[in-house]
Amino acid sequence: MGEDWRALNRASWDERAAVHLAPGGYDLSSHRAGRGRMDSIAEAELGDVAGLRVLHLQCHIGDDTVAIAQRGAAEVVGVDFSPPALAAARALAAECGVAARFVESDVLAADAALPGEAASFDRVFASWGTIWWFPDLPGWARIVAHFLKPGGALVFADAHPVALVFDDVGRRAGDGLPGWEVPYFERAGRIWDEPGDYANEGARLQNSRTMSWLHPLTDILEALRAAGLRLERVREHPAVCWQMFRGLVRDEVDPTLWRWPGEAWLPLGLSITAVKG
Ligand SMILES: C[S@@+](CC[C@H](N)C(=O)[O-])C[C@H]1O[C@@H](n2cnc3c(N)ncnc32)[C@H](O)[C@@H]1O
Repeated sequence: MGEDWRALNRASWDERAAVHLAPGGYDLSSHRAGRGRMDSIAEAELGDVAGLRVLHLQCHIGDDTVAIAQRGAAEVVGVDFSPPALAAARALAAECGVAARFVESDVLAADAALPGEAASFDRVFASWGTIWWFPDLPGWARIVAHFLKPGGALVFADAHPVALVFDDVGRRAGDGLPGWEVPYFERAGRIWDEPGDYANEGARLQNSRTMSWLHPLTDILEALRAAGLRLERVREHPAVCWQMFRGLVRDEVDPTLWRWPGEAWLPLGLSITAVKG
């Protein structure tokens, strides 16, 4: 593999935290007003969290972590490996007056970072930009299972792996449609060099190189099954919560989602609820 993918990705995420806090980054006004807006796919999948203990993996700057606390969760713990993201998350929680806890850890080592918390969460939540950042999907699924109480559930929402085959600059891109970029079954990690940011295209990142993996759908489902989780719901969505491709348009009814302008050529989002038996 050669590159130290963790160091590469962490440097990029450390820098993005500031980009996401700056104008043109994440809109946190609803959080500050008392009820942070979540995208409707993740929110529907998550359901009622009142009174539940929720572990939020790869919490980034804590926007969804705080939003979950604002929906009445009994306790929310956010985990991320980026110190600047966690500092922003702690500041947001303090500003919003919610009691979320944030822990610095690689997601694949979160069991060691949260000792004594095995089988203690009702929900493990991970959304939008999560499993693509590391190769060890079975290890991730074991971490999820480790933290869930029996009967507790993973709530997952992210890009559909089929959509990750495509890119705006991929082969035969045109007519507003993205082109072929990553073979679906490639499995090897890929290095990308993209100075722009998904929330702020105009940003120019110094740490523009990242490494990511396309995990096929069956790898995701099989990793969850092997970790002892039972699928309760799997959904494919013709929408995602960011402008994944230039040709997507904002949903006219639901401003938290982006869709194809005409034919829904490909699934864009994937959501899964999986229960620990
Ligand atoms: C796109 S964000 C997560 C999604 C969140 N819903 C959002 O949109 O803000 C990705 C996060 O994953 C974190 N991350 C990436 N690889 C990680 C790893 N191996 N361990 C822990 N956190 C990781 C990054 O620091 C970043 O905060």
